[in-house]
Amino acid sequence: MKVAIGCDHGGLNIKNAIIEYLKENGIEFTDFGCYTEESVDYPIYGYKVAKEVSDNSDTLGVLCCGTGIGISMSANKVKGIRAAVCTNEFMAEMTRRHNNSNIICMGGRIIDEAMAVKLTDIFLNTEFEGDRHTKRVDMITAIEEGTFEL
Ligand code: RB5
Repeated sequence: MKVAIGCDHGGLNIKNAIIEYLKENGIEFTDFGCYTEESVDYPIYGYKVAKEVSDNSDTLGVLCCGTGIGISMSANKVKGIRAAVCTNEFMAEMTRRHNNSNIICMGGRIIDEAMAVKLTDIFLNTEFEGDRHTKRVDMITAIEEGTFEL
Protein backbone atom coordinates (compact mmCIF):
# COMPACT_ATOMS: atom_id res chain seq x y z
CA MET A 1 0.00 0.00 0.00
CA LYS A 2 1.16 3.50 -0.92
CA VAL A 3 -0.20 6.85 0.22
CA ALA A 4 -0.81 10.01 -1.81
CA ILE A 5 -1.14 13.03 0.45
CA GLY A 6 -1.97 16.68 -0.15
CA CYS A 7 -3.43 19.79 1.45
CA ASP A 8 -4.13 23.48 1.09
CA HIS A 9 -2.89 26.12 3.55
CA GLY A 10 -5.81 25.35 5.92
CA GLY A 11 -4.71 21.74 6.26
CA LEU A 12 -0.93 22.13 6.27
CA ASN A 13 -0.64 21.73 10.06
CA ILE A 14 -2.32 18.33 10.17
CA LYS A 15 -0.70 17.18 6.91
CA ASN A 16 2.75 17.77 8.39
CA ALA A 17 1.82 15.71 11.48
CA ILE A 18 0.51 12.90 9.26
CA ILE A 19 3.71 12.91 7.20
CA GLU A 20 5.72 12.41 10.41
CA TYR A 21 3.49 9.44 11.25
CA LEU A 22 3.98 7.98 7.73
CA LYS A 23 7.78 8.34 8.01
CA GLU A 24 7.89 6.82 11.52
CA ASN A 25 5.90 3.82 10.29
CA GLY A 26 7.84 3.30 7.07
CA ILE A 27 4.79 3.89 4.89
CA GLU A 28 5.68 4.85 1.32
CA PHE A 29 4.08 8.17 0.34
CA THR A 30 4.12 10.99 -2.18
CA ASP A 31 3.44 14.53 -0.96
CA PHE A 32 1.61 16.52 -3.64
CA GLY A 33 1.80 19.82 -1.69
CA CYS A 34 1.13 22.50 -0.75
CA TYR A 35 4.28 23.11 1.28
CA THR A 36 3.83 26.57 2.85
CA GLU A 37 1.09 28.58 4.58
CA GLU A 38 0.67 30.83 1.56
CA SER A 39 -2.97 30.85 0.45
CA VAL A 40 -3.64 28.36 -2.36
CA ASP A 41 -6.66 26.82 -4.10
CA TYR A 42 -7.71 23.47 -2.60
CA PRO A 43 -9.11 21.98 -5.87
CA ILE A 44 -5.54 21.78 -7.24
CA TYR A 45 -4.40 19.46 -4.44
CA GLY A 46 -7.68 17.56 -4.30
CA TYR A 47 -7.31 16.82 -8.00
CA LYS A 48 -3.61 15.84 -7.86
CA VAL A 49 -4.13 13.30 -5.07
CA ALA A 50 -7.39 12.00 -6.52
CA LYS A 51 -5.78 11.43 -9.92
CA GLU A 52 -2.93 9.49 -8.31
CA VAL A 53 -5.37 7.31 -6.35
CA SER A 54 -7.63 6.82 -9.37
CA ASP A 55 -4.67 5.70 -11.52
CA ASN A 56 -3.12 3.35 -8.91
CA SER A 57 -5.22 0.67 -7.21
CA ASP A 58 -2.52 0.11 -4.55
CA THR A 59 -2.73 3.74 -3.38
CA LEU A 60 -4.91 5.37 -0.73
CA GLY A 61 -5.22 9.13 -0.37
CA VAL A 62 -5.08 11.61 2.50
CA LEU A 63 -6.33 15.16 1.91
CA CYS A 64 -6.47 18.08 4.32
CA CYS A 65 -7.95 21.57 4.02
CA GLY A 66 -9.55 23.91 6.55
CA THR A 67 -12.70 21.83 6.95
CA GLY A 68 -11.95 18.82 4.76
CA ILE A 69 -15.06 19.68 2.74
CA GLY A 70 -13.84 21.65 -0.28
CA ILE A 71 -10.96 19.30 -0.95
CA SER A 72 -13.27 16.26 -0.67
CA MET A 73 -15.74 17.80 -3.12
CA SER A 74 -12.88 18.35 -5.58
CA ALA A 75 -11.51 14.82 -5.19
CA ASN A 76 -14.94 13.25 -5.59
CA LYS A 77 -15.23 14.71 -9.11
CA VAL A 78 -12.46 12.37 -10.29
CA LYS A 79 -13.63 9.02 -11.65
CA GLY A 80 -13.25 6.14 -9.23
CA ILE A 81 -12.79 8.31 -6.16
CA ARG A 82 -14.71 7.84 -2.95
CA ALA A 83 -13.40 10.59 -0.69
CA ALA A 84 -14.86 10.86 2.81
CA VAL A 85 -14.64 13.70 5.31
CA CYS A 86 -13.96 12.22 8.74
CA THR A 87 -13.96 13.97 12.10
CA ASN A 88 -13.88 11.00 14.47
CA GLU A 89 -12.60 7.44 14.80
CA PHE A 90 -15.94 5.80 14.01
CA MET A 91 -16.24 7.63 10.68
CA ALA A 92 -12.66 6.74 9.67
CA GLU A 93 -13.29 3.06 10.39
CA MET A 94 -16.75 2.77 8.87
CA THR A 95 -15.96 4.61 5.67
CA ARG A 96 -13.35 1.93 4.90
CA ARG A 97 -15.48 -1.00 6.11
CA HIS A 98 -18.73 0.02 4.39
CA ASN A 99 -17.96 2.60 1.66
CA ASN A 100 -14.57 1.29 0.52
CA SER A 101 -13.41 4.90 0.58
CA ASN A 102 -10.08 5.46 -1.08
CA ILE A 103 -9.36 8.96 0.25
CA ILE A 104 -9.79 10.33 3.78
CA CYS A 105 -10.34 14.08 4.08
CA MET A 106 -9.83 16.06 7.27
CA GLY A 107 -9.96 19.67 8.41
CA GLY A 108 -7.02 21.41 10.04
CA ARG A 109 -9.46 23.92 11.54
CA ILE A 110 -11.72 21.14 12.84
CA ILE A 111 -9.46 18.51 14.43
CA ASP A 112 -6.00 18.70 16.02
CA GLU A 113 -2.80 16.98 14.82
CA ALA A 114 -3.13 14.01 17.19
CA MET A 115 -6.66 13.25 16.01
CA ALA A 116 -5.61 13.61 12.34
CA VAL A 117 -2.85 11.04 12.87
CA LYS A 118 -5.24 8.70 14.70
CA LEU A 119 -7.87 8.90 11.94
CA THR A 120 -5.23 8.32 9.26
CA ASP A 121 -3.92 5.27 11.12
CA ILE A 122 -7.43 3.80 11.41
CA PHE A 123 -8.21 4.55 7.76
CA LEU A 124 -5.02 2.95 6.42
CA ASN A 125 -5.41 -0.15 8.60
CA THR A 126 -9.07 -0.97 8.04
CA GLU A 127 -10.26 -3.25 5.23
CA PHE A 128 -13.45 -3.06 3.15
CA GLU A 129 -15.95 -5.66 4.37
CA GLY A 130 -17.40 -6.48 0.96
CA ASP A 131 -20.58 -8.63 1.08
CA ARG A 132 -23.74 -6.46 0.99
CA HIS A 133 -21.63 -3.31 0.88
CA THR A 134 -20.16 -4.26 -2.51
CA LYS A 135 -23.57 -3.88 -4.13
CA ARG A 136 -23.98 -0.40 -2.65
CA VAL A 137 -20.52 0.78 -3.65
CA ASP A 138 -21.22 -0.58 -7.15
CA MET A 139 -24.37 1.57 -7.20
CA ILE A 140 -22.25 4.65 -6.45
CA THR A 141 -20.03 3.70 -9.40
CA ALA A 142 -23.09 3.29 -11.62
CA ILE A 143 -24.27 6.80 -10.69
CA GLU A 144 -20.81 8.08 -11.63
CA GLU A 145 -20.88 6.23 -14.95
CA GLY A 146 -24.43 7.29 -15.81
CA THR A 147 -25.71 3.70 -15.87
CA PHE A 148 -27.65 3.78 -12.59
CA GLU A 149 -31.30 2.76 -12.96
CA LEU A 150 -34.08 2.57 -10.37
C1 RB5 B 1 -9.42 28.03 2.84
O1 RB5 B 1 -9.56 29.24 3.49
C2 RB5 B 1 -10.63 27.14 3.10
O2 RB5 B 1 -11.73 27.62 2.43
C3 RB5 B 1 -10.33 25.73 2.71
O3 RB5 B 1 -9.20 25.27 3.40
C4 RB5 B 1 -11.41 24.70 3.00
O4 RB5 B 1 -11.86 24.80 4.32
C5 RB5 B 1 -12.52 24.63 2.03
O5 RB5 B 1 -13.41 23.79 2.11
